[in-house]
Amino acid sequence: MPNPLAPGSLAGKRVLVTGSSRGIGADTVGYFAEAGASVVINYRNKEARAAKLANSIREAGGTAIVVGADLTDPESVAAMFDQVQAELDGLDILVLNASGGMESGMAEDYAMTLNRDAQVDLLTSALPLLAPGSRVVFVTSHQAHFINTTETMPEYLPVALSKRAGEDALRSLIPRLDEAGIGFVVVSGDMIEGTITATLLERANPGAIGARKEAAGRLYNVSEFAAEVAAAAVDPIPANHTRYVGDVSDFGPIEGE
Ligand SMILES: NC(=O)c1ccc[n+]([C@@H]2O[C@H](COP(=O)([O-])OP(=O)(O)OC[C@H]3O[C@@H](n4cnc5c(N)ncnc54)[C@H](OP(=O)(O)O)[C@@H]3O)[C@@H](O)[C@H]2O)c1
Repeated sequence: MPNPLAPGSLAGKRVLVTGSSRGIGADTVGYFAEAGASVVINYRNKEARAAKLANSIREAGGTAIVVGADLTDPESVAAMFDQVQAELDGLDILVLNASGGMESGMAEDYAMTLNRDAQVDLLTSALPLLAPGSRVVFVTSHQAHFINTTETMPEYLPVALSKRAGEDALRSLIPRLDEAGIGFVVVSGDMIEGTITATLLERANPGAIGARKEAAGRLYNVSEFAAEVAAAAVDPIPANHTRYVGDVSDFGPIEGE
């Protein structure tokens, strides 16, 4: 997938993508780095993958730092922002991409803790680093964004409810963000082919990916969806603060339009 960001267009900009050691976050951070931004690659467990990605960015002439932080641990989030402030002196783009809730062996309310509470805490902690003109992007799925009106697979329900609760909590901060001159946009996409989540859901619901493909016409892959997330960080913000990726005709209704 070609980079949607023009070469050099983000020179001098500083970008943090949460959960960027792998998957959609990793491809997103790659687009920002290629466009000239200094990027912060955040990981929870996958340090080696994060370091490898940072090395490949540096080898291509880019600037990347790697910061481990479990977003559900306020101390490690505070340490991450201390390091970002010390090394980059602030942020211009913050992408809230990290997500979870289908991991085994976690507390029953882990999805809410990560997808709602930790997202709000993270954005609140980031505010002092975000100057007027900066942008916050929250990444979610159609299955979560539309969960109040469109049913989803039972295995995904706790994630969908918690991500929607996180989105609502973040949206409630829009007036405060507006006052500070910080833009906010949600990027929502259907199941993304080739991701662990889609693979797990397909395993539990054989035919789920094929059914979505048929309903939506096609599904995006990781690099295509990451390109939409990267573009959302620079494109004009839609009136309802939501960028829908792909077809949403069998989800809905679309809010705020
Ligand atoms: N997959 C889909 O089909 C799909 C569809 C639409 C939207 N989305 C959205 O796209 C985003 C990325 O999805 P993905 O499928 O690429 O995710 P993923 O492969 O499951 O990757 C999740 C990332 O989040 C990090 N992470 C998980 N828990 C964390 C925590 N407690 N603290 C810090 N980092 C944590 C992981 O870090 P480690 O690897 O280091 O643990 C990893 O880098 C999510 O917001 C998701 O809702 C996904």
